[in-house]
Amino acid sequence: MKRYEELAELLAADIRSGRLAPGTRLPSIRTVTAQYGVSPATAFQAYYRLEERGLVRARERSGYFVAGTGLTHPPEPAASAAPRISSAVDISELVFSVLESAQDRSLLPFGSAFASPLLFPLPRLAKALASTARFIDPWDTVASLPPGNAALRQQIALRYLGMGMPQPAESLIVTNGALEALNLCLSAVARPGDLIAIESPGFYAASQALERLGMKAIEIPVRPKEGIDLAALAEALERHPIRACWFMTTFQNPMGTTMEEGKKRELVALLARHEVPLIEDDVYGELYFGQRYPLPAKAFDTKGLVMHCSSFSKTLAPGYRIGWVAPGRFGRRIEQLKLMTTLSASVPAQVALADYLHSGGYDKHLRKLRHALEGQLQCMNEALARHFPADIRVSRPAGGYFLWVAFREGFDTLALHRAAAEQGISLAPGPIFSPSRQFRHCIRLNYGAPWSESAEQGMARLGELARALG
Ligand SMILES: Cc1ncc(COP(=O)(O)O)c(C=O)c1O
Repeated sequence: MKRYEELAELLAADIRSGRLAPGTRLPSIRTVTAQYGVSPATAFQAYYRLEERGLVRARERSGYFVAGTGLTHPPEPAASAAPRISSAVDISELVFSVLESAQDRSLLPFGSAFASPLLFPLPRLAKALASTARFIDPWDTVASLPPGNAALRQQIALRYLGMGMPQPAESLIVTNGALEALNLCLSAVARPGDLIAIESPGFYAASQALERLGMKAIEIPVRPKEGIDLAALAEALERHPIRACWFMTTFQNPMGTTMEEGKKRELVALLARHEVPLIEDDVYGELYFGQRYPLPAKAFDTKGLVMHCSSFSKTLAPGYRIGWVAPGRFGRRIEQLKLMTTLSASVPAQVALADYLHSGGYDKHLRKLRHALEGQLQCMNEALARHFPADIRVSRPAGGYFLWVAFREGFDTLALHRAAAEQGISLAPGPIFSPSRQFRHCIRLNYGAPWSESAEQGMARLGELARALG
């Protein structure tokens, strides 16, 4: 890392932690030069870097100021203070209607689950696809059957190694996106009628999978700052025959919360005591704004009970549908289920991604993507402060591209969703993140698109609608 990048990272860490609060004036170039022993050019470069990332703003003749607002954390989700059991999960209709509106390209995509495709190196990937497709060995079609293309699994294993949690390439199973990995894991460890612990609020695909397989959900509260409520989970494990857990411990969807490493260790130890498998969804882990990849729970798993699922959908190639699972002790069953259902992931897509990863450039792309997302987060936070009611509470994600916004109790975000759609704006209302339809006063907003005048206007219109409904 260059000296100015190091300095920018140091200051960025202070901004993220709140040590340098929004509105604070950054030290003058002369002070930085003296304090850090760098040249004025290096200090300027570091400040430009922070400005590009949206973390600071220059004010003419006054210097640089920390961007952003003093928005507070959302309150603890009171409505889900205790775990709730849904004996028959029925979430689909509401989720489908919201997802349809998020897919309409004429709408502003605040409700979308994806980052803007403009942020991905699609031409570079297309080149890899075209050049590798011409030379695919006919035998590759057979060799890439489960557990998947060997070169790709090798590249994924190298990434695990770089993150400090080695996983043997031979153990990895390539899937059609993380969603297939998650679903296969669930089928590998549970049967219809079983009780599965999911997060509240949590990713709607978990509820949909339970609905499809006739399983029951027990919703474990997620705390905005700490993540999964471990005390509530411990009690639920004592009282109920929980067959498996399906959790996100990093940049949780929809709240954006990341559990501290110590809590992840505790979670793994707790589940190990009860011999309960964990299906860990880590699709946003690589989109961290801090210094390094937040280790997932899988990194602390010594009993093979954690199935770590991820993909390239959120970080590189949304349409290629390539994901994987590091399956712990359940590999054989997952592989069999993969063979019984979809047989294999697309061979050309696997080969192209293996080639792209092998030729380098992924880490550089990720750095750019993380910086872009962090800047967009700042813009959305500022727009929230400018346009939304003053009593909203907003999460503070340290990665990913979702913000969780809580209005006052009693506010109806399903009505806001309908009114916004009529005005060309999509959003994700809270109840789609809970089988018992809690969080009606919350929304998830997507800041995964480059900030624009129309995004700013959309936020202003949303704010007006919220006031009118409020
Ligand atoms: C939390 C979470 N997990 C998994 C997925 C699915 O990932 P993939 O597109 O790789 O199947 C998504 C996509 O929206 C997601 O938000």
